[in-house]
Amino acid sequence: MQPEQIINIIVAVADDWAIGRDGDMPWHISQDLKFFKAKTMGGSLIMGRRTWESIGCKPLPGRENIVVSARLAEEWKMAEGEDGACGPSGADAAAGTTAMAVESLEKALEAASRPEVFIMGGGMIYRQAIDIADRLFVTHVHTTVPDADTYFPVIDPEVWQLAERSNTSVDPRCGLKFEFRTYLRRSSDE
Ligand SMILES: NC(=O)c1ccc[n+]([C@@H]2O[C@H](COP(=O)([O-])OP(=O)(O)OC[C@H]3O[C@@H](n4cnc5c(N)ncnc54)[C@H](OP(=O)(O)O)[C@@H]3O)[C@@H](O)[C@H]2O)c1
Repeated sequence: MQPEQIINIIVAVADDWAIGRDGDMPWHISQDLKFFKAKTMGGSLIMGRRTWESIGCKPLPGRENIVVSARLAEEWKMAEGEDGACGPSGADAAAGTTAMAVESLEKALEAASRPEVFIMGGGMIYRQAIDIADRLFVTHVHTTVPDADTYFPVIDPEVWQLAERSNTSVDPRCGLKFEFRTYLRRSSDE
């Protein structure tokens, strides 16, 4: 962690705070995926082991991929140099794509070396990170997901101030309405 680093959380959340179902996202909104890519490109990504699995166990290109998992940290150390089935294959340091696994969120934050850090889930990691994050990039997807199994913590307006809000769009394929909002942590003397 560099002294000037900003800790961002980036998430897409339903009106009932659902974010996941059966190890995947409950929707596919291509404009949201493009937003995620544009925001995070070049930065450090921090994700839990299940989210790493949900993206196919391959590092997202052009970014520093840091996976939080005691088990993977141990496995990847042992498999160093090998192209394991679920290891850091696909890394390409010359193209800015790196992957590592660490034992805790604290270690992930220490290891993050890029100016922008993005906590990208899932639920377990968001719950630990929301108390230390500076900024939230939230895609509000206007739906509810009754069979969801993973949730984002409720955004407390006493802690988070809405700084930016896009117009509402509609995904042409799934028909869901959504908008992008940015929240900043209120200063303690407000
Ligand atoms: N809507 C969105 O924007 C969004 C974004 C990301 C993910 N998701 C969804 O969220 C779901 C996954 O979330 P999840 O809560 O099940 O899992 P997760 O947070 O992705 O990963 C949980 C795993 O991370 C590791 N971990 C977490 N905290 C740790 C700590 N302090 N120390 C060591 N290891 C730690 C553990 O791995 P080990 O068991 O290996 O130790 C734990 O089992 C999926 O459905 C995914 O699609 C949605």
